[in-house]
Amino acid sequence: MKDIKKACFELFLKNKRKLGSYQYTVPSPETYPYQWLWDSCFHAIILTHFNTREAKLEILTLLSKQFENGLIPHMIYWDKESTNDFPVIEWGKKDTSTITQPPMIAYAAWRIFQKDHDESFIKKVYPNLYHFYRYLLNERDPHEKHLIGILNPDESGEDNSPRFDIPLNLPPRHSFKENTQKRLNLVAQNISCNFDAPFCMRNFFWVTDVPFNAIMVKNLKLLAELAAELSYEDDAKFFNGEAEKIAEAMKKYMLDKGIFWSTYEENYQKIKVKTWAIFAPLFAKILSKPEAKKLVEKHLTNPKEFWTNYPVPTVSIDEPSFDPKDFWRGPTWIAVNWFIYKGLLNYGFKDLAKQIKKSSTALLEKSGFREYFNPLTGQGLGAKNFTWGGLVLDMN
Ligand code: GLC
Repeated sequence: MKDIKKACFELFLKNKRKLGSYQYTVPSPETYPYQWLWDSCFHAIILTHFNTREAKLEILTLLSKQFENGLIPHMIYWDKESTNDFPVIEWGKKDTSTITQPPMIAYAAWRIFQKDHDESFIKKVYPNLYHFYRYLLNERDPHEKHLIGILNPDESGEDNSPRFDIPLNLPPRHSFKENTQKRLNLVAQNISCNFDAPFCMRNFFWVTDVPFNAIMVKNLKLLAELAAELSYEDDAKFFNGEAEKIAEAMKKYMLDKGIFWSTYEENYQKIKVKTWAIFAPLFAKILSKPEAKKLVEKHLTNPKEFWTNYPVPTVSIDEPSFDPKDFWRGPTWIAVNWFIYKGLLNYGFKDLAKQIKKSSTALLEKSGFREYFNPLTGQGLGAKNFTWGGLVLDMN
């Protein structure tokens, strides 16, 4: 692949779907023919490198299915008829799921604004964003610990990550089918709870995940910037304050000897499974520079943990659950590399960031726009014509 930007442009043209005034991008036409929340945020970020109008349409289409209570569903089944060969999970709603995904939408809106300074767009989406982040702050923190909880591993975006094995009561090695069944059971419970997050669902699965909370911190800060841009000074103050509180709570409940661990259940026990999540706090600049340096040297660039031939594996290679070919249990994903890339730049680790960009590009050149890659060999795995590879354009 000579020109990644050109290949990416062609892929996005191919994966673009229009329905009346709506427009979105499918992550992969063969495997994922619907709209997904964090995928659309990645798409919008990538599309700003071509055309902000398209990026805006992606976000507006996503927001069109926001729930009354503020939740933005993680899947929207647009155009079910022409995609009816694909399995549709029963979520209790007609055309959307009932769970959410990492809250990257303020970042996407901010990125669009950085590019074209169109205040009318920000004004238009701001009430939706306000409502979504307020939902997460109000409904997903029932113990008022200032940590945001998820109700299903799929809300992390890393469906079968070994971070969720303990809360799901699964051993480090198990089949994909077993894992899926556990997650489907949660969906059924979700429906029987009438989607009530704070009072019912938390009894079945309650995890405060490191990337989700780090993403929340970063996005609340950017939402505060957008609020300030619109002269909503009180909102700006409020969202900055909430970002600080979450960052502090992460240090209080998740941090142990330099590593942030996701927690589970009512007593916020740490889940000590080493995945890329330990680097997510870099993205929100939660660590001090010396702490970040130590984390990077000890773990990221350690060939016994995360520094493989094609970094960054989603799971440390010394974990018993590590499998170089199994979805979120080891393979390298370009979006994860993008988060780590941005995190490294926050601390001035420019050379290392460059290496991540280089190896991400090498993966696309070797194996094409695949969903994920074997971190040892670079072999392409999972869905084909998968959009997330376009994030290398945003490693700058
Ligand atoms: C898989 C991924 C999830 C993504 C979706 C669509 O379910 O785990 O993160 O949003 O596919 O690409």
